[in-house]
Amino acid sequence: MALAAVDEEMRYSPLPWLLPHTAMHDVHYHGIDFEAGDTVLVLVLATNRDPSVMTEPQRFDIARQRVRNFSFGQGAHACPAAQLARIEMAIALERLVTRTTLRLVEAPTLTASGKGRIPTSLLVEVTKH
Ligand code: HEM
Repeated sequence: MALAAVDEEMRYSPLPWLLPHTAMHDVHYHGIDFEAGDTVLVLVLATNRDPSVMTEPQRFDIARQRVRNFSFGQGAHACPAAQLARIEMAIALERLVTRTTLRLVEAPTLTASGKGRIPTSLLVEVTKH
């Protein structure tokens, strides 16, 4: 369940939300001609909410079946540590939830930047069991 929650959080609120990729040589891809040096911005935020691959993409749902997710990139340069990062986050989340009681004191404030929505404050009361 913790892994599903991590995957859903990564899908819903990816960081970074866009990935620049530069063509190293001329390439014809999906009907489009790219010249060497052209930069393409992959909008991770949009690809992660593709209504053709999931139902209700705008809904945050940790019970969702794992769906294709571009938060770690795709292809030759996809993050080689994706599985490690997912598992580490799931273990941390599970321990936090099972060993403590969390109470939200103040709603988080988020700052939008080129990299995504970054939390600038999140006040939580943590009681250890
Ligand atoms: C939540 C944690 C992480 C996220 C969201 C993340 C995300 C990403 C993304 C989006 C890329 C670029 C993929 C692309 O250009 O298509 C990337 C590349 C990379 N990541 Fe991660 N990453 C994470 C953790 C890590 C960790 C823990 C390591 C190392 C232990 C790591 C090592 C790398 C490396 C070496 C690349 C470059 C791969 C290449 O260019 O061939 N990442 N990561």
